[in-house]
This record gives sequence, structure tokens and C-alpha cells, in this order.
Amino acid sequence: MEKKFKDLENKIEEAKLGGGEKRIEAQHSKNKLTARERIHFLMDEGSFEEIGMLVTHRSSNFGLDKNKPLGDGVVTGYGNVNGRLTYVFAQDFTVMGGSLAEAHAEKIVKVMDLAMKNGAPVIGLNDSGGARIQEGVVSLGGYADIFYRNTLASGVIPQFSAIMGPCAGGAVYSPALTDFIMMVENTSYMFVTGPNVVKTVTHEEVSSEDLGGASTHSTKSGVTHFTYKNEVECIHGIKKLLSYVPQNCEEDAPSLDYQTQNESRPKLNEIIPENPNQPYDIREVISTTVDEDTFYEVHKDFAENIVVGFARIAGRSVGIVANQPAFLAGVLDINSSTKGARFVRFCDCFNIPLLVFEDVPGFLPGTDQEWNAIITNGAKLLYAFSEATVPRITVITRKAYGGAYDVMNSKHIGADMNFAWPTAEIAVMGAKGAAEIIFKNEIKSATNPEEKLKEKEAEYAEMFANPYNAAARGYVDEVIRPDQTREKLIKAFKMLENKVDSLPKKKHGNIPL
Ligand code: HXC
Repeated sequence: MEKKFKDLENKIEEAKLGGGEKRIEAQHSKNKLTARERIHFLMDEGSFEEIGMLVTHRSSNFGLDKNKPLGDGVVTGYGNVNGRLTYVFAQDFTVMGGSLAEAHAEKIVKVMDLAMKNGAPVIGLNDSGGARIQEGVVSLGGYADIFYRNTLASGVIPQFSAIMGPCAGGAVYSPALTDFIMMVENTSYMFVTGPNVVKTVTHEEVSSEDLGGASTHSTKSGVTHFTYKNEVECIHGIKKLLSYVPQNCEEDAPSLDYQTQNESRPKLNEIIPENPNQPYDIREVISTTVDEDTFYEVHKDFAENIVVGFARIAGRSVGIVANQPAFLAGVLDINSSTKGARFVRFCDCFNIPLLVFEDVPGFLPGTDQEWNAIITNGAKLLYAFSEATVPRITVITRKAYGGAYDVMNSKHIGADMNFAWPTAEIAVMGAKGAAEIIFKNEIKSATNPEEKLKEKEAEYAEMFANPYNAAARGYVDEVIRPDQTREKLIKAFKMLENKVDSLPKKKHGNIPL
């Protein structure tokens, strides 16, 4: 018996050693942790249970039968993150470059299936040279098995993907199908075709980092939602994000205890500048309104004209979507519309109420926007808000112009409550542009056209640059002083706590993709 126990111990030792000391050292020398170290930082102490530690591949191609590492290059299992059940797979680059083939994929599939059946999030820690070249088509099949499950699990359980090394070729599509992607600066990259192929096909010379590093994907493509300086920060980011989301689509996100206190926030009265064309930072409005230090921004460096992220109001998780007047005047364009739409849909999938801060002068004009389909892309945000059934509240801080007024969670498309500050301007367009059009002849024939324009602009502004026409029609439920905002939101979200709403019976909608 002793010998049998010893055999088991030896096997466990062997599996835990992954690709061996040298490869672990090589991994560390690249500022990367091993798969097991990553899991250690992610999971609550002592809670991780490994599944499939002794799995090996079954290939004998190209001498693979002489190299059958235990675990097949991926560590999979379950454990607790801040006390909540979470499934994880972590690719082990020290074992055949973390390459994915039949057995490796089966292990990932197994935890994904368990996560679906048991209603808990899956975290993928990706660090892999891609499809295991020696194993051929079974590698591709393995990827497809994962993609299929990513899609079926979408909207059922939260799925996050941290990229902690290479992620290339078709391998990128599993993270792309999940809810959030995190990348680590300088040690991770994602691309469909690498620099060599790019050079051959388009003659462009580009490094891996420029083509698909964290900075590229956080600023240019928007593929990644978060970037971190190192892996430990990244893992803390995953844990923080998990704290705002429920285990699955049938549950609510965890709430923290909260005692109502003085909720007045006089600082909010000072934020909107006198001059309506002067920018201000909407993040200041957000952070002053929500529970202290709870705003966690998503997609921070991409399409900065819209700000999205999670926060808490009276301890309860909310998703925030806010126009950012400090960047491109807060205009809606292609990237900000898709960024906003994706976030709204995540919150709606997972029962997270939506809070919108609106200050939007309209959609961005220009050939670039029109030719790249601002029509289709703007419609995504409109669609996403319209079909969202979670509690939805808007606060109009300043401009709510044109179609963008409708899009930004107006009552007309199903928002539950719209508040406006006295500084709100709810109109078809800005006063100057409106005056130029509707008083064109009068201005042209005036002895002093410039003065006439100013006069007409003031006339239009007097009539529409306020929230009262909209309030008179009930489009705005209440005009409030900015300092009252937090108190009003706490009450309104509490009032909406048991909201039940549903969409007409359908197989699924047809969002303009
Ligand atoms: C088998 C692989 C591998 C792979 C790496 N290794 N990638 N083995 N299949 N895809 C092995 C290496 O042979 C090496 O083994 C060990 O992992 C470490 O790799 P190194 O090259 O020494 O590491 P490094 O210098 O850091 O380079 C990492 C790398 C490089 C840039 C990822 O390994 C590389 O280019 N790999 C191939 C990437 C690739 O073309 N993959 C297929 C993509 S197509 P030894 O024993 O020597 O230590 C794809 C299609 C997916 O993935 C389609 C899904 C639908």
C-alpha cells in the first residue's frame, strides 16, 4: 500500500513541476508567473481543487509518445474567489508552450461544462503558443469545442479571459467570445496573424507588441477591456470585477450592507461650467455620486468620449454609461456606440441596473463616420438600451441633443426614470445651429446678420436650452439640484429593486451587427 501511495505522490509532484525547473525559470525571467502561481493568487487560500491533473495526450505524431507531460499543459479546476465558487483554467507555457490539442481542450471543456451546470463564472488564464502543431486537426477541433461552449455560456455565466502571454491565430476567438478581456503590459499579445505573415502579405513591418500588445488593444482596437502593469495586478483586477457581478444570469450581484446617511453631495453643484461649451470631466460627477471609491472603469483608454464601468450605489452594484464632455465634447461616434452597447448588454444579461449620465451634443459628423457605418453602429447602442430590462435611470446633466437624446436611455426607449439638472438642455440641436437653419432668411436679410443670429440664438436657447419642456411632457420625471442626485438615485433604485419586465416572445433579436 505504501508504495502505491508513494507512486501517487510522485505523480502529483511530477504534474506540479510542469515543464521543469529550467522552463519555470525561463517563465519567471520573462516577468511571467507559472499557471499554478497564477491560480494561487486568484483563488482563496486552500480552496483550489484541481481536476484532471493526470490527463495526458494520446498522440504519437512526431515523437510525441515519448513526451507525455501530466496535465497536458493546462491546469484546470475550481475554488473560491472571495468566498464564491469560480472555475478556472490556466495554460501552462512551461509544458509544450501551453499549446492546445485534444486532451488540453477536453480539460477546458470539462470545467466549462461544470461551470454551466453549476452556475458559476469561468476565468481563463491564457498563455499559449496556440494549436499544438504536431497534433493537427484535433487541435482545431478542440478550439472549436471551446468556442461553441463560450457562445452557449454567453449571458448565462460570466466569462473573463486574462491574456498572460501569447494568444495568436484562431486562439484569440475564445477570449473574444467571453465577456471581458484583460491584458498584461509588455508580456502578452493577441493577433489573428503574426508579424511575419503581416510582412509577407502587406509588406508592413511591425513588432508583436505594436501589432497586438496590451497598449494597442486598449487604445486602438478596443479588444481588451483592461490592461495591467503586471500579472498580480491583473489577477487583483479579475477579483475586483467579479465582486460586481452575479454568479449567473438567474442571480443578483452581491450587495454590501448600507445604512442611509446624509446623501447630499454639494460638490456636484460646482461641476458644470457657466459656459455650456466648456468641458468638464464626467468622472468627477460619477465618483461624487456613487459610493466612495467604488467606480471601476471598463475600457478606460478606448473611445474616451463615453465612460463605462461598475460602481455601487448604497452598496448595490450598478453599471454606469456616461458621455464624457472632456473628450470630443462627449459626442457619440462608432467606437463609443459599440463600447457602450457591449457594456449595456453585459449588465442586462447579468441583472445589473444601469445608470446613465447624459451630456451629449449628438453624433459625430463626417465622411469617416458615415462611410464606416455610424448608422449601423449607433443603432447598436439604441438597440442595447431598448432591449435592456434591468432597472434603468438617466441623469441629464447638460446637453441632450438630437437622436442622441433618444439613444441615451430616454424614457421613450424604456428607461424607468429620467432626472435632469437645471443645467440640462434638451433640444433637437444646439441653439446656434438651430437658429441658423430656422431663421436663415431673417438673418440673411437683416442689416446686421451677425447680431440677428445672436438674437435668434438667444431666443431659441431661451425656449429649449432647459429641461422644462421635457419635464412638462413627463419625458423628464423630475428636475433636481445636482446635490440631490445621489439621494434621488438611492431611492429610485430601491423603488425599482423588484422590477420585472420582459421582451416579446422571440427566438432572439437581430441587433444590427
Ligand atoms: C507545439 C509549441 C507550440 C505549438 C510553442 N511550442 N508553440 N509546440 N505547438 N503551437 C513549444 C516550442 O516548440 C518549445 O518547445 C516551447 O513550446 C516553448 O516555445 P519557444 O518557441 O521556445 O518559446 P518562445 O521563444 O517564448 O516563443 C513563443 C512563441 C513560439 C512565439 C509562441 O513558440 C511560436 O511562434 N510558436 C508557434 C506559434 C504558432 O504558430 N502556433 C500555431 C498558431 S495557429 P521546446 O520543447 O523546444 O521547449 C493556431 C490556430 C488556432 O493556433 C486555430 C483555432 C481555430
